[in-house]
Amino acid sequence: MEVPVPLAETLRNARSVAVLTGSGVSAESGVPTFRDAQTGLWERYDPMDLATPEAFERDPKLVWEWYEWRRKLVGEAKPNPAHEALAEIEKRIPDFTLITQNVDGLHREAGSRNVRELHGNIRRTICSKEGIVVMPENFVEGTPPRCPKCGSFLRPDVVWFGEALPAAEISAASEAARACEIFISAGTSSVVYPAASLPYEAMENGASVIEVNPDETPLTARADFVLSGNAGDAIPEMARAAFPGMGL
Ligand code: APR
Repeated sequence: MEVPVPLAETLRNARSVAVLTGSGVSAESGVPTFRDAQTGLWERYDPMDLATPEAFERDPKLVWEWYEWRRKLVGEAKPNPAHEALAEIEKRIPDFTLITQNVDGLHREAGSRNVRELHGNIRRTICSKEGIVVMPENFVEGTPPRCPKCGSFLRPDVVWFGEALPAAEISAASEAARACEIFISAGTSSVVYPAASLPYEAMENGASVIEVNPDETPLTARADFVLSGNAGDAIPEMARAAFPGMGL
């Protein structure tokens, strides 16, 4: 894939960069995107009917078991070259923020440091009443397990449809988008808000926007640069073009 010289130079000289990633960045790690995750036993269920507070209220056992199945899928996944290249770029940019809609924890596993998880993290479990993180060794047996403090059901620490995003995460993400010189949107369909508004906030504050996606999205026409390919190829290429000699 050809990385335009101006793009490489802009990235090399940037002092502040913000990145928004979506499930497309984890696709090459074998993590199915949210909508194509349904196989086997779960084929007859629509994720939109499972990832909601109402579904958990109605059938906590079913929702818990679905997340256990997804957690297992994620547990087997490893970071791919896209995750690794983003962690390398972060080391070379004074002010770098990685904002992700993914709940698989692969960015941190690849070495990214300043990560904002807008939709939570499937590997973390919280009490459904108090919201506190509960470690597996403290689960009170059951499906779902219960909180050792108040006895309420435990749930995955992810944002369900209809729920508010973690305030600290979305405000830090918005601040990073407004302050950056370069905004990279990678592997996201750019249709789920408020995450999808971030590249426009960056644009309004004079940032150059780069999109990495094999397909078109509503952002494509507005982006300054478009790398239309898989993140696992395009992001390492972009990193090597900007920082020659980077060992990727
Ligand atoms: N590299 C880059 N992009 C890819 C790749 C790849 N290898 N494979 C697929 N894509 C692109 C698709 O073209 C699509 O535009 O990744 C995007 C995935 O879009 P979605 O499945 O809608 O995922 P995402 O944008 O992360 O969804 C946002 O909505 O599904 C809910 O809460 C869930 O966090 C998710 C949010």
